[in-house]
Amino acid sequence: MCAQSVRVEQISTRERFEDFARFPFEVYGGRDAWWPPDIHNEIELLAGRSLIAAHLDLSPFCAWRDNKLVARVSAVVNYRYNEHWNEKLGQLIHFEALPGEDEAAGALLETAVNWLAKRGMTGARSGFAAFLDYPYAIDNYGELPSFLLRGNPDCYHRYFKNAHFMTEKGQVDYTAPLTPPTLARYRQMIEAARQRGVVIRSWREYGFLAAIDVWTDVTNSAFARHWGWNPVSREEVRPMLLPLAGTLVSDLSMIAVFEEQPVGAVFSVPDLSGTLARVRSGVRLKPERGGGTRGALINIGVLEMARGRGIGRAMAARSFLTMAQHRMAFAGYTLVLDDNWPSRRTAESLGAKVSANFVSYRRDF
Ligand SMILES: CC(C)(COP(=O)(O)OP(=O)(O)OC[C@H]1O[C@@H](n2cnc3c(N)ncnc32)[C@H](O)[C@@H]1OP(=O)(O)O)[C@@H](O)C(=O)NCCC(=O)NCCS
Repeated sequence: MCAQSVRVEQISTRERFEDFARFPFEVYGGRDAWWPPDIHNEIELLAGRSLIAAHLDLSPFCAWRDNKLVARVSAVVNYRYNEHWNEKLGQLIHFEALPGEDEAAGALLETAVNWLAKRGMTGARSGFAAFLDYPYAIDNYGELPSFLLRGNPDCYHRYFKNAHFMTEKGQVDYTAPLTPPTLARYRQMIEAARQRGVVIRSWREYGFLAAIDVWTDVTNSAFARHWGWNPVSREEVRPMLLPLAGTLVSDLSMIAVFEEQPVGAVFSVPDLSGTLARVRSGVRLKPERGGGTRGALINIGVLEMARGRGIGRAMAARSFLTMAQHRMAFAGYTLVLDDNWPSRRTAESLGAKVSANFVSYRRDF
């Protein structure tokens, strides 16, 4: 499709996939600190070679203005999601665009939406898809976001609204300062759970490989009715998490066992900004954002029949205590839906406060 000097095309060659995957360097490369993409994995996904690709019909699109790549997106029919929720919802993942490219971004989104409509989808979501996409930041522009989260330019909101998308869900990211009084309260939370017969074990104590499978099973069950989620398989989660076995992840992630059954799981990471973020030399990150002092709980779930007994809180408390033992002074509690009060209350009972805000977009056709 052509509009003046703007050209939008579906891409299919290795060379184009590479340009697509590298495009975030154009958008974020000038920043003091940002999380670069995993180019290899992204190309594998675009080429349909990753395990998750078996569940997707995925088509990447690029927009060029005067032959310069200025925006990209992938349109996705996620069969697992649609089967799970009995919906026909398409997803737009990988969206990135340069500032001042309203025309190109609009043409790109329209082309991607049409591709979904032609495949029988009745709506499109952008900004949340399990393992594939994360929501758009509405504050802290220019700062290093929490691990996994977007630090997009503010113009993305204009691009989506002009393309007739509406805010579908709000999400928050929490941060807890790990002060001595807070750590003392965490010990009490763990002790209270122990007295009720709950055993909290790190993944290292539980056995890392076994813990990965427990995480998959507990998460599929706990998140079964959680907005945006779709079931994931042990086969795809194992190769993603197994390489982390020898790292601090195995001490920070937890399994809760009650009456000899695993009933809860937490997946947490240490501060990864030193190894994975690009930080301009001479720049010092704020301690609550990175630089070795911010760990993050990425995911928490408790089976329905075990909820409301302090198990979620105790798992998170032990994860945060372990972060403090490894010189982390802040703990992130990453990405909670605005209306997920059980999770928000859990974060708040751990002393965490909202530190960043995000939205996901939707357009019904
Ligand atoms: C969020 C979740 C992990 C909480 O686990 P839990 O073991 O039930 O929580 P706890 O018993 O430790 O309770 C922690 C706090 O949350 C509150 N809480 C728990 N369930 C609640 C509910 N249904 N409504 C309101 N508050 C609730 C508790 O009262 C407690 O707060 P308080 O100390 O201020 O009273 C659990 O509800 C869950 O797995 N939900 C589905 C998956 C999910 O949403 N995960 C989080 C994604 S961000």
